[in-house]
Amino acid sequence: MTVFSGKELVLMIINTLLFLLFLLHHASSRSLNRITPSQPLRDGDVLLSDTATFALGFFTLSNTSRNRYVGIWYNKVSIQSVVWVANRDNPLNDTSGVLSINTHRNVVVSLSNTRTTGLNPVWSSNGSFSSSSSITNTFAKLLDTGNLVLIEEDGGIQRILWQSFDYPCDTMMPFMKLGIDRKTGLNRFLTSWKSSDDPGFGNVTYRINPTGYPQLYMYRNGNPIWRVGSWTGKRWSGVPDMTPNFIFTVAFVNNATEVTVMYGVNDPSVFTRMVLENSGQVRRTTWQTQEHRWFEIWKGPKEDCDNFRRCGSNSNCNPYNPQTFECVCLPGFEPKNPREWYLRDGSAGCLRKKNVSTCRSGEGFVKLTRVKVPDTSKARVDLSLSMKACREKCLGDCSCASYTTANESSFTGCMTWHADMEDIRTYSSVGQDLYVRVDAVELAKYRKKPFGSLGMKGMISLLVVSILLVLFLVMSFIYCLIKNKKQARKHSKNLFNYSFENSLSMDDFSSGKNLDLPLFDLIDIAAATENFSDANKLGHGGFGSVYKGLLSNGMEIAVKRLSKYSGQGIEEFKNEVVLIAKLQHRNLVRILGCCIHGEEKMLIYEYLPNKSLDFFIFDRESKLQLNWRKRFDIICGIARGILYLHQDSRLRIIHRDLKASNVLLDSELKPKIADFGMARIFGGDQIEINTKRVVGTYGYMSPEYAMEGLFSVKSDVYSFGVLLLEIVTSKKNSGHYEEITSTLVGHIWDLWREDRAVEIVDPSLLVDDDACPNEILKCIQIGLLCVQDYAADRPTMSTVVSMLGNDSSLPSPKQPAFIFKRNKPGDKSNPSTSEGFNSVNGMSTTMVEAR
Ligand SMILES: *[C@@H]1O[C@H](CO)[C@@H](O)[C@H](O)[C@H]1NC(C)=O
Ligand SMILES: *[C@@H]1O[C@H](CO)[C@@H](O)[C@H](O)[C@H]1NC(C)=O
Ligand SMILES: *[C@@H]1O[C@H](CO)[C@@H](O)[C@H](O)[C@H]1NC(C)=O
Ligand SMILES: *[C@@H]1O[C@H](CO)[C@@H](O)[C@H](O)[C@H]1NC(C)=O
Ligand SMILES: *[C@@H]1O[C@H](CO)[C@@H](O)[C@H](O)[C@H]1NC(C)=O
Ligand SMILES: *[C@@H]1O[C@H](CO)[C@@H](O)[C@H](O)[C@H]1NC(C)=O
Ligand SMILES: *[C@@H]1O[C@H](CO)[C@@H](O)[C@H](O)[C@H]1NC(C)=O
Repeated sequence: MTVFSGKELVLMIINTLLFLLFLLHHASSRSLNRITPSQPLRDGDVLLSDTATFALGFFTLSNTSRNRYVGIWYNKVSIQSVVWVANRDNPLNDTSGVLSINTHRNVVVSLSNTRTTGLNPVWSSNGSFSSSSSITNTFAKLLDTGNLVLIEEDGGIQRILWQSFDYPCDTMMPFMKLGIDRKTGLNRFLTSWKSSDDPGFGNVTYRINPTGYPQLYMYRNGNPIWRVGSWTGKRWSGVPDMTPNFIFTVAFVNNATEVTVMYGVNDPSVFTRMVLENSGQVRRTTWQTQEHRWFEIWKGPKEDCDNFRRCGSNSNCNPYNPQTFECVCLPGFEPKNPREWYLRDGSAGCLRKKNVSTCRSGEGFVKLTRVKVPDTSKARVDLSLSMKACREKCLGDCSCASYTTANESSFTGCMTWHADMEDIRTYSSVGQDLYVRVDAVELAKYRKKPFGSLGMKGMISLLVVSILLVLFLVMSFIYCLIKNKKQARKHSKNLFNYSFENSLSMDDFSSGKNLDLPLFDLIDIAAATENFSDANKLGHGGFGSVYKGLLSNGMEIAVKRLSKYSGQGIEEFKNEVVLIAKLQHRNLVRILGCCIHGEEKMLIYEYLPNKSLDFFIFDRESKLQLNWRKRFDIICGIARGILYLHQDSRLRIIHRDLKASNVLLDSELKPKIADFGMARIFGGDQIEINTKRVVGTYGYMSPEYAMEGLFSVKSDVYSFGVLLLEIVTSKKNSGHYEEITSTLVGHIWDLWREDRAVEIVDPSLLVDDDACPNEILKCIQIGLLCVQDYAADRPTMSTVVSMLGNDSSLPSPKQPAFIFKRNKPGDKSNPSTSEGFNSVNGMSTTMVEAR
């Protein structure tokens, strides 16, 4: 028999009561599908959308804060991903909050006790809707787009009284409109959170400004920091890489009722969102179900030139400008204050040159290509005019300073500027043409054919000028020679003591302000590499040998001693290295400097402790260090690095020699691409000769490159595809794949068509717990899309990155190129693939374009 003491009995009763209370509390937390005046949502309840994609309820944001918010989040995403918050600046202290519909037909958040006492709610949807129908016909529902709507039902007709999409927070969702309803004056825009754990109103907004020709801007504390630009018919003028792809659609409307933009998504199972951060960045990400993470596919602003009015008025920000800074006055303009111009990096802007009187005969236009057109808030727009009529209209109006087309897709519409032109910049590949009005003198400077329009007199004066010019050039050349010799002597003395610490910080490069590149002295490098000893040799690549070195300050470096190199002079070599050193990305090997000594030229890189990717994936033992998760990260990293080279960097660079041995792994096994920009240093012909020598590279070369010498970004895409397939299979594409008497690519293609592609996957990848065969197969499909025979069929790197980053269905690959099947280098005969090469016509044959 057990006897309880009174104390124990009381404790037991209390415990039982507490347990009952606990049960009661949990029984009371419900999933609703609508909120009605009689059925409010209490803290602990959730309101689900029809397919439970989104949920609305009370939540906290961090373990340290007890603040309770009401908001909407992705219900099927494993990371807390809040897309909308009601009481942004008014969190609740405890769990007594209630979301209900009040007698004024508003959705309100209030404390349960104040609801009855009639105190002001913590948050209210703030409409005041009078209606004849009874309040009981009003309800709130969460749609599958993540939109909370308040609906009034009257005789079977539903009317939306209020919706959360009209009051966005920091997240723009598909099918949400941003912009202005011209009838009601409602302006929907994004406002950043204060910080990642405080959803209060932050300092940064992203909104459409309807002044003049409407534009999208990013503001901080009300001041524009980035002009996303006007709608060109295809994209925002300030977002060059916004190409419609298979994931998104964009609808821009500018009419009497509204000026809005809306993104759509073709596949509703793709979760994509655009988030405005308080740091002043807007980021688009997609959810990767298998990876459990948000994957970044685009962000802005990116470059110094994106800063609003970086170069002041009438000036063009050109990141590819070989001068010391990016700003260049528009044709016919000069720095406002020449001294200030240099002191303040050109940010003071430009004025029309003196002694230029407009409205004289002989005026014309200079075309600036690939630019972001000036701020259109003061532009005059006539959408009915053709380009030709636009030009005439501008020429006939003395106040007209420049013109361009308003619609990039139809090349119609006339946009003209009549005052200072603001916030212009140059892009590498896309962008619009801007025609700047100049007088006859200026026009002559820009004429391509100087003889075309000149008379006899002009010809003679031109001749005289030319002779004078030649004389001047010869003189300066001689002068330079003498000076250079002197300087070279001086240099070799000064540079002797050069050490890495006292050079500029490497981060200065990314700001584009400092063009100096550390020059290392041969003595130091020789000491660091123990006189280029064999023991220190890391390998021999296409462009020379690589040595490991240890500087006297303890820093480890990799030294690439370039093989005998002809062509460019020292200055050109330095310029190229400076440009390439500016390419900084976490997936590119960083260049620290160079060393020039007579014929000897060396590039100094950061040293990476791990070997290159080929060492890992093609080795029976080492490959076990890379499970599928690591390999997928490596694939994504390589893709991002190439995308940066192709699109995001200041120079448009085609790598041309992408292969497993050119991908290095850092201590965390993150990939870093090496040997980029070699085409720039060596010049086009040299690299071609070079790749012909390196037989191993053959497996990576696209058919149009190998056979016709045509390269484009799509040849890199091809090489990437081969590399991807190698990573998945741990097998080399090049060389002899004898078992199957076909190339790896060909073999994968055969298996793919028979739905047996999984057989080629490295078996060690499939045994891992983390492995997901679907994702591996998706990668094989992307690989096959990249190695398609016709360059035009292959995706761009930005599409590849998007494809890697989401789960939507992919197009079916077409037959890949098999030209390397038993082909010897230099053997160009292969009738089966020589036809159809027209598809690569019109593709650039230059591997590097200055942007
Ligand atoms: C919550 O606390 C855990 C452990 O204390 C910590 O690891 C985690 O990062 C915290 N989460 C947030 C959002 O602060
Ligand atoms: C939070 O708690 C404090 C004191 O505990 C109280 O004064 C304040 O009104 C509460 N705020 C809200 C929003 O309930
Ligand atoms: C609702 O209106 C009140 C008073 O006009 C204002 O203080 C409050 O910020 C508004 N709330 C919302 C969510 O707009
Ligand atoms: C917003 O800007 C103000 C004024 O510049 C600054 O004091 C404040 O710290 C900023 N707030 C946030 C959340 O960045
Ligand atoms: C631009 O032109 C295209 C094709 O004519 C048309 O569909 C589009 O609506 C135009 N856009 C604007 C902003 O005028
Ligand atoms: C403006 O465009 C919207 C969306 O296409 C349309 O619903 C509306 O009727 C248009 N308004 C006018 C005045 O054309
Ligand atoms: C402007 O023209 C005047 C007279 O025509 C001349 O004296 C002066 O030097 C010119 N200035 C410049 C900057 O060309």
